[in-house]
Amino acid sequence: MKITLHPGQKGKRLNDLFGLFFEDINHAADGGLYAEMIRNRDFEYAPVDRWSYTHLTGWAEIGYAAVRVEDADPPFPRNPHYAVIRAGAGNGVCNLGFGTGICTEAGKQYRLTLWARAKKPMEIRAALGEASVTFALTAEWQKYTSVLTAGCTDHAARLCITAVQEGEFSLAWASLFPTDTWKGRENGLRRDLCEALAEMKPKFLRFPGGCLTHDGDLDPDARNGIYNWKRTVGPVENRPARRNNWGYHQTMGLGFYEYFLLCEDMGCEPLPVVNGGLDPHHLRFAEGEVLRQYIQDALDLIDFAKGGTDTEWGRVRAEMGHPEPFRLKYLAVGNEEVHEAFHTRMALFAEAIRKKDPSVELIGSAGPFADGGPYEMGWQYAREQGLDHVDEHYYMAPEWFLAHCDKYADRPADGPKVFLGEYASWGNKMRNALAEAAYMTHLQHAPAVSLACYAPMLCNVHYVNWRPDMLWFDGWRICKTPNYHVQRMFMQHQGDVCVDVEATDNEPVAAPRTPIAGEMFFIADDSTIEISDVQLTTPAGTAALPDGVISGRDKLSLGSTHGDFTLTFTFRRTAGEKGFRVHFGHQDEKNTYHWTVAGWQNNDSALEKRSDGRGSCLTQSNYSIVTGEVCRMKLEVCGDRITSWINGQKYNETVDALPAPRPLFLAASLEESTGDVILKAVNVREAAVTAEIACAHAGCMVEELSAMPDAENTLDAPDAIRPEVHQVPGGPGVTHTFPPHSVTVLRMKAGG
Ligand code: AHR
Repeated sequence: MKITLHPGQKGKRLNDLFGLFFEDINHAADGGLYAEMIRNRDFEYAPVDRWSYTHLTGWAEIGYAAVRVEDADPPFPRNPHYAVIRAGAGNGVCNLGFGTGICTEAGKQYRLTLWARAKKPMEIRAALGEASVTFALTAEWQKYTSVLTAGCTDHAARLCITAVQEGEFSLAWASLFPTDTWKGRENGLRRDLCEALAEMKPKFLRFPGGCLTHDGDLDPDARNGIYNWKRTVGPVENRPARRNNWGYHQTMGLGFYEYFLLCEDMGCEPLPVVNGGLDPHHLRFAEGEVLRQYIQDALDLIDFAKGGTDTEWGRVRAEMGHPEPFRLKYLAVGNEEVHEAFHTRMALFAEAIRKKDPSVELIGSAGPFADGGPYEMGWQYAREQGLDHVDEHYYMAPEWFLAHCDKYADRPADGPKVFLGEYASWGNKMRNALAEAAYMTHLQHAPAVSLACYAPMLCNVHYVNWRPDMLWFDGWRICKTPNYHVQRMFMQHQGDVCVDVEATDNEPVAAPRTPIAGEMFFIADDSTIEISDVQLTTPAGTAALPDGVISGRDKLSLGSTHGDFTLTFTFRRTAGEKGFRVHFGHQDEKNTYHWTVAGWQNNDSALEKRSDGRGSCLTQSNYSIVTGEVCRMKLEVCGDRITSWINGQKYNETVDALPAPRPLFLAASLEESTGDVILKAVNVREAAVTAEIACAHAGCMVEELSAMPDAENTLDAPDAIRPEVHQVPGGPGVTHTFPPHSVTVLRMKAGG
């Protein structure tokens, strides 16, 4: 193969293309990036967060101690609960920390903060292993601080708070941070995780989450309220806790001030997401004054980020320690919303935000799927409303990514741009990283794509809500997945402008197409469905199949098909809230196609495919079943085209594209500050590719990640897959052999 780079022929400007997405999922914040080591430091855990929580979750008694929870006359009215501990000398309570416990390292220092008082003057002792401190309490709430030095390394340490003399004391706050946080900040972040993120050199950070931002009571002051950035700023003790919709408790210690600071530290653009005045999970829609307040909150965020200190929220920022403005170039409204109700609200947000600050680039939503009616609607509204970017999300099989490396090739670049705000292939193996890398070469060159970030970012191994994730960690270790390395390589070596790259002998090689073939059956999804008038037409003729009733997880078999078919049937739901699926081309549980009818919360009609156990939603439309209604359905497979109709109306249509890998997926760019020409090459196949690369240079840095497709990193073997770096002396070009299953960056120094 011969690869020719044309540094003089410049294409798309890359701007802020590759960035990061942070969501407090998998305990990514509390028990994760946020370096607080005490679980339930303010006694605000409650069943509203998770049925099993109490105000004393994370705490245990030591010896004789009677512990109760009160909320009268609290030191922090917005987090009013505190523990009242009646204990004999040497007895009290201890905190168990997150995961295996509080993780300390011998010789390291930990900053302890307590808020406490006692009925009658008494002393309490706070101990972390051998290190301890004694405080004399008074009848008034007071803050007590100390720095403790850990005597040993321990991954299951406890913070023990005990009475020195028998007595009764109240504890409203117990906090412990390593002094060695990222940038040494007191309300700081975990250094190792931040370093791994900063090392990537992201161009932006989307925060504070996806579903996290739109699930809750419309009253943001409710304990169960929707995430509102205003509740996350100001003194940390008084930021009201909330229910995190991933099934746990969220302290807000990592709030909008900390997110903006992190972006500033990493030199990237903050990309906050604000709620668009609705909770799509529970169909709650803000109206009137409530909606106006949601819009006002978005406007106030602009002041908090970059308004003068003479503005109300600019002053709050200054009081928190940052009178200078932060940056705020992007603002996203909503996450995955595709309801008509969102689009009408988005128009109001857009009008108000543009009036206040026309320089802010606005981001709308195209929902959680890569194709279909709501996706198209999101784009249509974005064009009508002149939005700058549209947030797309999808999680797919690696095969889907390899089959869609031209998804945005024909997308016009003069309207709203694609912000791929969440994507990942299902898995943290090398095969996933390779598929994502191949796709990223397309994202880099597609003119319509402006921003892209992998999701989710972080996962504490003790609290898994979602997998895959980019970085895994426990209390003392982190594991960089191959997906992380790919993201980092593309970010660190993004460049400023695409340059033309040509290659000989690099045509895509499509996987051989075999007809869609296998078993066909109906399967219920916890509902009772009557099925009748079933007809299956194949090239061999039309057959009438028996009627049936399915409920629970019942199956009703329709035999097998091989190639084209048309299936028609009538159904009626008689019980339940959901629907059913029609499987076809079913080889086994891991390799199958299905039409999902009334999936998720009775609102999808989707055509999906599972390859080697990994699912891809090929296309989705909105559809809900009404119990008792009789519906006539049709599903057609014609070659690689799959189409479905409900009551004569076409609902879904897709082409089942197969992976078509090129010998090398290529992307090239120029970094203007250094003059470096950067070539990225992804070899997803089993054969090595040797290429002559024509581009004069004064020296070339080669960074390469290569491993077998099933390889992965773990906490115990975090470097099983890691990139190798070497230098090549200057010359008129380079000859390089790209190993099988590899991602390579060649950075060619200017001046050759
Ligand atoms: O990244 C995990 C979740 O996936 C996000 O919260 C949501 O936006 C998406 O559905």
